[in-house]
Amino acid sequence: MEIKKIGVLGAGTMGAGIAQVAAEAGFSVILVDIETAIIEKALKGIKKAWKKAVEKGKLDEGEMQKREGNLATGSSMADFKDCDVVIEAIVEKIEVKKVVFKELDGICPEHTILASNTSALSITEIAAATGRPDRVVGMHFFNPVPVMKLVEVIPGAETSEAVSSAIVELCKKLKKEPVLAREFPGFIVNRILVPYITETCSENPAP
Ligand SMILES: NC(=O)c1ccc[n+]([C@@H]2O[C@H](COP(=O)([O-])OP(=O)(O)OC[C@H]3O[C@@H](n4cnc5c(N)ncnc54)[C@H](O)[C@@H]3O)[C@@H](O)[C@H]2O)c1
Repeated sequence: MEIKKIGVLGAGTMGAGIAQVAAEAGFSVILVDIETAIIEKALKGIKKAWKKAVEKGKLDEGEMQKREGNLATGSSMADFKDCDVVIEAIVEKIEVKKVVFKELDGICPEHTILASNTSALSITEIAAATGRPDRVVGMHFFNPVPVMKLVEVIPGAETSEAVSSAIVELCKKLKKEPVLAREFPGFIVNRILVPYITETCSENPAP
C-alpha cells in the first residue's frame, strides 16, 4: 500500500520525534495532542532542530522549508480522517489506549493502519478495541527518535502480514532499522534491558 499521509497522536517526547522524522522523510504529517501548549512546544523544538541544521550547513534553506510544509498540526483526532497510517504515542495506559483506538477506528478510513508506540502493552488487546485488528500493529521507536535507528515492529495476534510488511517498509523510508518482534511483554530490547538495570541498580539488594 502507498503511504502518503501520517497522523501522529501525542506530541510529547516520542510523538514529536516521530512527527519530525516523518516530515524529514517527505511524508505529509499531522500532529495532534490534547494539550495545545504541548503541540506548540513540539513544533518549536522541531523547527529549532531544523534551523540549527541549516546554521551548521547540514541542511539547505529550501529543504527546511519543504520539511516545514510537510508538518501540520491538528486540534482533534478527526483531523486523521485522511491519514494512511496513524501512530499513537500517548500515555502508557492500556485503558486510555483502548478508548483512543476505538475512536480512531471510527474516524479513519478502512485502509488506515493504526500503530502504537507502546513500550510493553499488548498490541492484541489494543487491536481488539477496534473493528480492524488485522490493521493494528506495534511500532516501537526509541528515545531520542531522530537519533535512535532501531524500531521494533510488533504484530498482534491478528495483524496481517501485509500490514507488518508495510510498516517495515515505512520504517526504512524513515531511515530507521526495523526488527520484527514477538508480542512478549517488553518485546526485545526492554525484555533484555529492564532485568539488567534491575540487577545492576545499586539500590536493589544483591541476589
Ligand atoms: N519516552 C520514552 O523513552 C519512550 C520510548 C519508547 C516508547 N515510549 C512510549 O511512547 C508513548 C508516549 O511516551 P512519551 O514519553 O512521549 O510520553 P509523554 O508524556 O512525553 O507524551 C504523551 C503525550 O500524550 C498526550 N496525550 C495523553 N492522552 C492523550 C489523548 N487521549 N489524546 C491525545 N494526546 C494525549 C499528552 O498530552 C502528552 O503530550 C508511551 O506509550 C510510552 O510508553 C516512550
